[in-house]
Amino acid sequence: MISVLTLEGREKIAKTFGQSSISYDQNARLQRYSGNVLCQYLAQVGNRQSSQHNYMLDLGCGTGYFTQQLAKRALSGITALDLSPEMLSFAKQRNYATEPDWICGDAHALPLPGNSHDLIFSNLVLQWTKPLTLALKEAYRVLTPGGHMVFSTLIQGTLDELKQAWATVDNDRHVIDYLTAAQVDCAWLQAGFTQVFAHTESVEFPYTDVNHLARELKHLGASLVSDKSQKGLTGKDKWRRMVAAYPQPPACNAGTNTHNSQIHATYQLYTVCLNKPPGD
Ligand SMILES: C[S@@+](CC[C@H](N)C(=O)[O-])C[C@H]1O[C@@H](n2cnc3c(N)ncnc32)[C@H](O)[C@@H]1O
Repeated sequence: MISVLTLEGREKIAKTFGQSSISYDQNARLQRYSGNVLCQYLAQVGNRQSSQHNYMLDLGCGTGYFTQQLAKRALSGITALDLSPEMLSFAKQRNYATEPDWICGDAHALPLPGNSHDLIFSNLVLQWTKPLTLALKEAYRVLTPGGHMVFSTLIQGTLDELKQAWATVDNDRHVIDYLTAAQVDCAWLQAGFTQVFAHTESVEFPYTDVNHLARELKHLGASLVSDKSQKGLTGKDKWRRMVAAYPQPPACNAGTNTHNSQIHATYQLYTVCLNKPPGD
């Protein structure tokens, strides 16, 4: 059965990201990392000499950090679209080489004409769409024939330490269900794209403790599990047991005898570059 995000689920996502718009930039180390990787890939598509594009779409632009960089490469214009009005308000405060067309909209039903953009950039947004195929079909529709889409998303294995720690405590879902790379591939194939390249990377970040990880996810708006069964707030006892079960670093580094008290969280990053075949 295909799992579909409800209207209520989308509203919750928009609200949670909206509430995080002010704290987002200070906590977005993974998002900056993956967005910079995507920007490097831009040089490999479109006008290879200048890596410029005519009309670009930043799909799920968030606070506009990468919109700002894309705007320097947009020859004809750029659309910055996000589900969250608060994220857009925040993004509008930056200065842009080309002022974007701001659109509050949903990746599942883009309020944009077909064949209107020749490059779509989307950094760490599509893991929030369901079904992914619907969002990718929309992206395909909006792209001009021969146009490209570069996106990054998180796949299965992301936050596995947290997921496994919670699994020792209860059967609730505390981390969103990430797709596998094969499922993502299936979605872009169904949408009609051909692949230029794809790359998976395991990225680990250190945290002082599990509270630090939880705070960062909250400040990014990424702590929401939209269709989690609401059995009340997580109790202190459950939280304490989950923290105790979270994989701990070795007590001390062999040889140096120095203590390394930081925990780690793993993110499985999937970066994909797609092409809408010319003449389609
Ligand atoms: C992790 S942030 C990434 C923001 C930005 N791309 C960046 O690199 O910093 C995810 C963004 O996707 C937006 N988003 C989530 N679901 C969306 C949807 N269905 N349509 C459009 N935007 C969506 C959120 O509001 C949020 O701003």
